[in-house]
Amino acid sequence: NSSPIEKLKDGLLSVPSQEVVAELGGGEHESTVSITVVGASGDLAKKKIFPALFALYYEGCLPEHFTIYGYARSKMTDGELRHMVSKTLTCRIDKRANCGEKMEEFLKRCFYHTGQYDSQEHFVALNKKLKEHEGGRLSNRLFYLSIPPNIFVDAVKCASSSASSLSGWTRVIVEKPFGRDSKTSAALTNSLKHYLEEDQIFRIDHYLGKELVENLSVLRFSNLIFEPLWSRQYIQNVQFIFSEDFGTEGRGGYFDHYGIIRDIMQNHLLQILALFAMETPVSLDAEDIRNEKVKVLRSMRPIQLEDVVIGQYKGTTTKGGVTYPSYTDDKTVPKDSLTPTFAAAALFIDNARWDGVPFLMKAGKALHTRSAEIRVQFRHVPGNLYNRNSGGTNLDRTTNELVIRVQPDEGIYLKINNKVPGLGMRLDQSHLNLLYSARYSKEIPDAYERLLLDAIEGERRLFIRSDELDAAWALFTPLLKEIEEKKMIPELYPYGSRGPVGAHYLAAKHNVQWG
Ligand code: NDP
Ligand code: BG6
Repeated sequence: NSSPIEKLKDGLLSVPSQEVVAELGGGEHESTVSITVVGASGDLAKKKIFPALFALYYEGCLPEHFTIYGYARSKMTDGELRHMVSKTLTCRIDKRANCGEKMEEFLKRCFYHTGQYDSQEHFVALNKKLKEHEGGRLSNRLFYLSIPPNIFVDAVKCASSSASSLSGWTRVIVEKPFGRDSKTSAALTNSLKHYLEEDQIFRIDHYLGKELVENLSVLRFSNLIFEPLWSRQYIQNVQFIFSEDFGTEGRGGYFDHYGIIRDIMQNHLLQILALFAMETPVSLDAEDIRNEKVKVLRSMRPIQLEDVVIGQYKGTTTKGGVTYPSYTDDKTVPKDSLTPTFAAAALFIDNARWDGVPFLMKAGKALHTRSAEIRVQFRHVPGNLYNRNSGGTNLDRTTNELVIRVQPDEGIYLKINNKVPGLGMRLDQSHLNLLYSARYSKEIPDAYERLLLDAIEGERRLFIRSDELDAAWALFTPLLKEIEEKKMIPELYPYGSRGPVGAHYLAAKHNVQWG
């Protein structure tokens, strides 16, 4: 709970925020942060990165002296970049506020530089412009690689050799995908390490920046009532569920090369699983947490093909006459593509805490709903009095379940058995419910805001270390290889449905019902 200024003194904050500068009377710690969004003309930059930077600016979280540069091949002036960016900025923090003025101020700090990703010369020119803005202050530089992965290394090479900071730090945020398998991921890591130290590389998994995922450790480690139950003794199974109610619209080209297992399971869901299942870390320090996550990943049993179901969505026409396309209708996807848009899998952690507990994952596109949640299903109450005596209360199937809803409608609820008020003895299942929108008036920050701020502050806790990445790929690579070598045919499911029925058989095989 230390103040920003204490954090700065302790070295936890490498950049003084506006608050700290004000407290220090300015001048004393004059430094700048230059943020270069590489691939600024792209979808992610527009949708997420610039809006997140604006939100940080609005909240006063960016240091006093900062400059944002967009970098891409497209020809654009500063004014054109500002116009493009302005279309996606919103008053997210306080919808009633008129944040037009703040937007104007923010946009004035945004600039654009046209350049090739593999041109030293163009990065030298960028460096010159950055220096002008930095005005001789101690400079810190953050590069956000929002570009396709095949050009990551070229861009890092040029940025690190021609535009890195000479007086302060240089950090690079790398977007997924980090390779397609163990081999390509290791090759990418090795190439990046030619130009950067591991502590300069911030591998982003934006699910780690989601509020409810961050809260997982708080829930476990700061409430007496959960941690004692967090083991095979009381937990029957855990489910990690991701679903989207739209298809690959617009991203078919990228998606077909990766598929849902690489796109969602190997990273987002596995990261949540590791946080869920890790032992208590020595401290909240990034290295202590990441050490525990790696241990979990390394304790996982190889995934068996018979514990996996894959699916692909097919077109459908609703009763109302609305037609939805099939995955292979996407022009950027081959007609005979076997790429899964849905997968369900049962995973196991072979350690003392989790021996025998199925960790089920389910991820799919073009399903009936958009949601991401963690479901913890507890064991039956041994010798439950109310099963024996209740005569038809049917409690035998109603075990406790803790649900952590990551999105939408963030919340946590616990299903408990409760007596229905009245003279008789009738029980039903009710929810102890913590709905964030009802409890907290403040808007929940977008995951990218938290992660960008952490990268600026040098906080690595929510970024993926290279050994974590290796362990994650070691788990999924043999499975992916087998699926691809055997040319496994995905089970078709209608767009907007609950996915292939095979997922239910898989759960039943492990004595589980999806929540
Ligand atoms: P885009 O495909 O929009 O690419 C970003 C920019 O890179 C483009 O505007 C283009 O800029 C340049 N570019 C595109 N293709 C090439 C190419 N073949 N060679 C050289 N330059 C190219 O990507 P996104 O913005 O969607 O994503 C950026 C990164 O983030 C990717 O790694 C993606 O996998 C990852 N990501 C994206 C998400 C999303 O929601 N979009 C979600 C999670 C991760 P120009 O032509 O002007 O140089
Ligand atoms: C990305 C995937 O990592 O996460 C996309 O590449 C997916 O396919 C997206 O749509 C989902 O993120 P969110 O935050 O919208 O749930």
